[in-house]
Amino acid sequence: MTSAQASSAQASSGPRRRSWAELPRETREAVEAHVGPVTEVERIEIGERSDIASVLEAPGGRIFAKGVPADDRQAPWLDNEARINPYVAGLAPRLLCRVLAGGWLVLGFEHVAGRHADYSPGSADLVKLAAALTALEDLPCPDVVSRRIEGRWPELADRPHAVTGDALVHADLNPGNVLVTEDRAYLLDWAGACRGAAWTEPAMLVPRLIAHGHSPGDAEAWAAQFGSWRHVTAQALGTLAAAESDRWDRVAAQWPYPRIVRTAAAARTWRDWRLARR
Ligand SMILES: Nc1ncnc2c1ncn2[C@@H]1O[C@H](COP(=O)(O)OP(=O)(O)O)[C@@H](O)[C@H]1O
Ligand SMILES: [Mg+2]
Repeated sequence: MTSAQASSAQASSGPRRRSWAELPRETREAVEAHVGPVTEVERIEIGERSDIASVLEAPGGRIFAKGVPADDRQAPWLDNEARINPYVAGLAPRLLCRVLAGGWLVLGFEHVAGRHADYSPGSADLVKLAAALTALEDLPCPDVVSRRIEGRWPELADRPHAVTGDALVHADLNPGNVLVTEDRAYLLDWAGACRGAAWTEPAMLVPRLIAHGHSPGDAEAWAAQFGSWRHVTAQALGTLAAAESDRWDRVAAQWPYPRIVRTAAAARTWRDWRLARR
């Protein structure tokens, strides 16, 4: 995505970010103590959580930096992402530094020269994403991940076992969190990673695929390529589809950005398709 495209996407999808130069000098100097003197190459407008997201040029190469004020409610999420990074080294860009200085928390990552994944039918990016998810299914869930997937759906409070498990689940694989290069896909933004049933990862991708033009049947067929799908029952899928649809409706009510509204509509489509198959 070009920065112009990113800017126009951002205009309709989230709050404005700050530039690197707007950070306190103390914060910038603390980052530079790790990576050397930097200049901002690009301010990345797309994304959700961070107040700053920039590509920086440093003597050792480009880095991607994201950060929030240390007292911001997003700061613990960013710290989650820093803690989990060593355990997902083969899937995510490598964390180069974590800096808490000048009232800001900033993470510096290896820069990936890629583009956001295309989730539309027939996209080769989905093959790369599938390879990454297959590798993810083989990773143990590290102890640093304490968030449990069932907490995502209040409607499952009386039957959490439908989605509980001990797998590592990224839980937010929107295309903006997947960077694709010539040979692979990188999974970004692990701040909200959870412990749960492995099949919930491909299942939560079903509404996203539908939102990008797949039929419910095709989206589920894509999800069915993963080993974890072998253990899922139609009942569990129906339960998750309904809970995920309710959740997306809540998200869309709070943040009615076009891509969220589209995903909420897709989640309803999936839920209704599941219901009709009973
Ligand atoms: N390591 C990286 N290299 C290059 N670009 C990146 C990297 N990490 C993230 N980005 C870009 O920045 C955007 C926002 O990053 P992300 O980690 O998803 O932050 P947020 O929490 O704000 O969503 C991504 O959609 C991607 O375009
Ligand atoms: Mg993101």
